[in-house]
Amino acid sequence: MTTIADPRTPHVATRRSGPNLEKWGWIYMRVSGVLLVVLIFGHLFVNLMLGEGIHGLDFAFIAGKFATPFWQWWDVLMLWLALIHGANGMRTIVNDYVLHEKTRKVLVWSLWIAAGFLILLGTLVVFTFDPCIGIETSKTDWLIEMCAAR
Ligand code: HEM
Repeated sequence: MTTIADPRTPHVATRRSGPNLEKWGWIYMRVSGVLLVVLIFGHLFVNLMLGEGIHGLDFAFIAGKFATPFWQWWDVLMLWLALIHGANGMRTIVNDYVLHEKTRKVLVWSLWIAAGFLILLGTLVVFTFDPCIGIETSKTDWLIEMCAAR
């Protein structure tokens, strides 16, 4: 007869000393989850419901938001929290289901590399966004005027 271990039995009998990363990962999922509810629903409300709502969403709307430190930080915080949350959640799933050790390691490393790359790229885009780049080819009158005035 096979006896199934108690669910709380540690996978590794003795834990290494130092910070308990699994515990902090667990706490991070809860704390980032609460913050993401505020950030994501705030983002959807402002973009889709305020003013003209979804009909007001265009290049000028985004350029306006990315010119404001408040929205830059809002979006960057949402990006960081969601990507780390998503990658850590996927790490949990991979650890639970992938039994082959080498495959598991490759997948977990890939998750963090992909998340790190997207965080870097997204942060750079938010803080270096310039609506006037390539303006000569743009046909948007207000943009030509605004960029010429700078
Ligand atoms: C509204 C905001 C969100 C809240 C409140 C939230 C909450 C949570 C919580 C509490 C967990 C842990 C569940 C557990 O350990 O059993 C979790 C897991 C997870 N979350 Fe989120 N989350 C949110 C947004 C997101 C986003 C934007 C992503 C993707 C980027 C995401 C991807 C995941 C994944 C992949 C897991 C692991 C699922 C699992 O263990 O089965 N979540 N979420």
